[in-house]
Amino acid sequence: MATLHVTDRAGKEHTLTADTDTSVMEALRDHDMPIMAACGGCCACATCHVYVDGEWAGKVKPPEADEIELVSTSEYYKEGASRLSCQIQFTPELDGLRVTLAPED
Ligand code: FES
Repeated sequence: MATLHVTDRAGKEHTLTADTDTSVMEALRDHDMPIMAACGGCCACATCHVYVDGEWAGKVKPPEADEIELVSTSEYYKEGASRLSCQIQFTPELDGLRVTLAPED
């Protein structure tokens, strides 16, 4: 288990405790955070879009090309911060990770 800090779309902060054998998207969904995750984590919908806090940017495994291609189509894409949360494995090294839910397209 590890801690995940989430800022929702209203600016409210949430501290979640989640298994480290899941994706960040699964941790968000399991805690009823409002992400659609329509494709179930297949990197096909971009409805699990989050911004990774700057201090964590270098600690999260970089995105694959298909993730960048998909998330960069979002109206709310922010280079260097935007990620698809289903593509981030929540490892023990990410204990304390901070993300913000991106606005919905
Ligand atoms: S859940 Fe569809 S891209 Fe992440």
